[in-house]
Amino acid sequence: MRKYNFAIIGATGVVGRAFIKVLEERNLPIDNIYFMSSARSAGQKIEFKNKEYTVEELNENSFDKDIDVALFSAGGDISLKYAPIAASKGVIVIDNSSAFRMDPEVPLVVPEVNSEDILLNKGIIANPNCSTIQAVVALKPLHDKYSIKRIVYSTYQAVSGAGMAGLKDLEEGLKGNPPKKFPHQIANNCIPHIDVFLDNGYTKEEMKMIKETRKILHAPSMAITATTVRVPVFESHSESINVEFEKDFNLAEVRMLLTDSPGIIVMDDPKNNVYPLAIYAAGKDDTFVGRIRRDESVKSGLNLWVVADNVRKGAATNAVQIAEKLIEYWNKEGN
Ligand code: A2P
Repeated sequence: MRKYNFAIIGATGVVGRAFIKVLEERNLPIDNIYFMSSARSAGQKIEFKNKEYTVEELNENSFDKDIDVALFSAGGDISLKYAPIAASKGVIVIDNSSAFRMDPEVPLVVPEVNSEDILLNKGIIANPNCSTIQAVVALKPLHDKYSIKRIVYSTYQAVSGAGMAGLKDLEEGLKGNPPKKFPHQIANNCIPHIDVFLDNGYTKEEMKMIKETRKILHAPSMAITATTVRVPVFESHSESINVEFEKDFNLAEVRMLLTDSPGIIVMDDPKNNVYPLAIYAAGKDDTFVGRIRRDESVKSGLNLWVVADNVRKGAATNAVQIAEKLIEYWNKEGN
């Protein structure tokens, strides 16, 4: 089988490091790999598959090399500047930032949900927001069957979603030191504020969940609202998802659909204290679903508790799964 050349942009960050781990674990057919960061970390050594590599400083000539796929996670500004440069040189960019997600020319992909959208790419494929990914993995099989009318998202998001600086704020906060990344102390606290506030009173994170869910599910007018909250947890986002369907559903069938869907593990035995937990999802690639119950306040409503590792399925694993699909398509085309 043909092997491919990869680059990781932001290789020294939280998601960048997870890219490396997941690429190794899933054993992608990689020939050469390049690791890039800012000048701050250039020169650092990274081990990949028992070989040592030196981190290079990202610059405008970084993509003059023979690179097939570049995984970006160095922030929106870096993606805005360098992803088009990479794409113009024939590299397929899988971008973890929000820079291109809502661009109609850029597919926004969760492989379990809309992998065929990958084929529409013009050089850039966007990886959705972490909280959106786990939500749509859980909702897709139910939407296909019962057609979603309205969603209410409430999230409980880990500090790793804010990168190294987020992790440090919780670590230091637990020792009584003041925050540097978040607007308030995160230790022993819940902050209903992720990303910036917009004119409509929502945060950008909330609007990302709303708009990205619509784009991924190909449902541009789906009614969705969201409240996103940062909680003092290092790894894994938890979400309460309340969903109303157009059609009636049967709870046993809902469980069966979720159990049979790729990427989902149902953990739902509340009498024995079994439900998805952040500490359980951490380090795993699946989306865990539990607390499955009817919302008795509306005609066809359902409540779910959905947990996933935000750095893995919410970022690195999803991006690597996109790369795997891409390679699968290339192999089919005989590239
Ligand atoms: P660096 O280690 O040189 O700062 P996180 O959000 O987890 O902190 O990670 C951010 C990642 O993006 C890091 O790898 C960081 O590299 C990288 N990065 C930040 N600014 C730039 C830049 N101007 N050019 C290239 N990479 C950058």
